[in-house]
Amino acid sequence: MPKHFLTLADLTKGDLRAILDDAHAMKKARKGQPKGAVDSKPALYGHTLALIFEKSSTRTRFSFDMAMRQLGGSSITATSSDMQLGRGESISDTARVLSRFVDGIMLRANSHETMSELAAHSDVPIVNGLTDYNHPCQIMADLMTLEERSEKLLEDMTLAWIGDGNNVLMSFVNAAAQLGYNLRISSPPGYRLKDAKLNAARVQGAKIEMGLSSEEAAKDADALITDCWVSMGDTDKDERLAAFPPYQIDEALLAKAAPDATFLHCLPAYRGQEMTAGVIDGPQSAVWDEAENRLHAQKAIIKWCFAE
Ligand code: CP
Ligand code: NVA
Repeated sequence: MPKHFLTLADLTKGDLRAILDDAHAMKKARKGQPKGAVDSKPALYGHTLALIFEKSSTRTRFSFDMAMRQLGGSSITATSSDMQLGRGESISDTARVLSRFVDGIMLRANSHETMSELAAHSDVPIVNGLTDYNHPCQIMADLMTLEERSEKLLEDMTLAWIGDGNNVLMSFVNAAAQLGYNLRISSPPGYRLKDAKLNAARVQGAKIEMGLSSEEAAKDADALITDCWVSMGDTDKDERLAAFPPYQIDEALLAKAAPDATFLHCLPAYRGQEMTAGVIDGPQSAVWDEAENRLHAQKAIIKWCFAE
């Protein structure tokens, strides 16, 4: 059975810790090298990863490609509309065929069902590069960034999510039980994660509070985290732009968090909507480190998939 990376809920605390430790170590080891240089001990020499996109991407596309180059391998990128997928070939047949050509597949899918279907029919590891349900690679980079910025252990941190109950938040929920951080959530009514989605994590011991005001969530938190108000695939843009303004992260809200709190955003960001320019461009923002860490975290994720 290939080792897939589909949801953080499938990973043990040990898996998550090993990936984060490897990501930190690889980042340190590369300091000062050209970005395209192969790692001194390339872990995936000769391996090729297919990168398939049903939706737009900047960070995921470039970071996975560079990750494979640094690991000594290569990647092939295609949008689903470039492929026969766009003309109705099934995802299961695509999985069977690509398994004969490449060593692994990263997919960004509209629907999580497509991701599961690909994994069910693939003989090679599948890495989830975002679905409507979750975004696990992003959260590994986010947790790595928080560890870089703080002396605290993740299990002692309080993370405040202020904004949409979306796919990025879901991955914070999916790792909460194993890593032990407190997760506070403030989302507008109508845009909250459904209880059913939280329950599995809570049963595992995740410490999650939902239904908080922005101020309650932010108070003394170690991180304030948000995302765009309108995700790819959302068709109710006008309703969202009307509902979300009270959930903007501005300087006053950031001042309620711990004095050294970190601001995170997976990007792309929309200044004046989910946060002010002063917050994302201010000294507490770690968004550029967070984007860079996609590369290092994903190298560790791909290595984990290929490890025996
Ligand atoms: N954060 C993130 O996944 O960015 P892209 O959509 O640009 O890949
Ligand atoms: N929630 C956003 C994340 C983009 C990286 C989306 O799904 O569009």
